[in-house]
Amino acid sequence: MNNNETHIPIQRSEDIVTAREQARALGRAAGFNGSDLTLIATAISEVTRNIVEHAKRGELVLCLISVGSKRGISIVARDEGPGIPDVARAMQYGYSSRNGLGVGLPGARWLMDEFDIVSKVGKGTIITMRKWAG
Ligand SMILES: Nc1ncnc2c1ncn2[C@@H]1O[C@H](COP(=O)(O)OP(=O)(O)O)[C@@H](O)[C@H]1O
Ligand SMILES: [Mg+2]
Repeated sequence: MNNNETHIPIQRSEDIVTAREQARALGRAAGFNGSDLTLIATAISEVTRNIVEHAKRGELVLCLISVGSKRGISIVARDEGPGIPDVARAMQYGYSSRNGLGVGLPGARWLMDEFDIVSKVGKGTIITMRKWAG
C-alpha cells in the first residue's frame, strides 16, 4: 500500500460526489487543466455509479503517479460485487444489463489514457484507469 493513496469508500451517491471532489483536488495538484479535471471527474462518476448500481459497495483508490517528467493520476475502482460475465459485451457502447444507457464503461475508457478491467463472476470487478497531464 502506497502512502500517497487516497481511499474513498463507495456505497451511495454522496460518495460519488466525494470521489469527484477528491480527484479534482489531486488532479489540480498534478497540473491537470480544468477540462481534463472535468473529464477525470466524469470517468470517476461512471465507474463509481456502477459500483453503487451494480455491486452495491466498493472503493475508489486515487494516486498521483509520475514517469520521468510525466505526471498523472491513477484511479482504481474495485468491488466484490457479482462481477461481469462478459466483459467484452459490457464494454460495448449501449450495452446495459438493466435498462441503463450502457455508455458508462465505454465512456470512461474513451475519456482516460489507459483503461483496464478485470472482472470475475462471484468475485468482483477491478477497473484501473490512468490519465497523464499535459
Ligand atoms: N462494478 C460492476 N459490477 C458488476 N457489473 C458491472 C459493474 N460495472 C458495470 N457492470 C455491468 O456492465 C454493464 C455496462 O456498464 P455501463 O456501460 O456503465 O452501463 P450501465 O451502467 O448504464 O448499465 C452494466 O449494465 C453491468 O451489467
Ligand atoms: Mg453505468
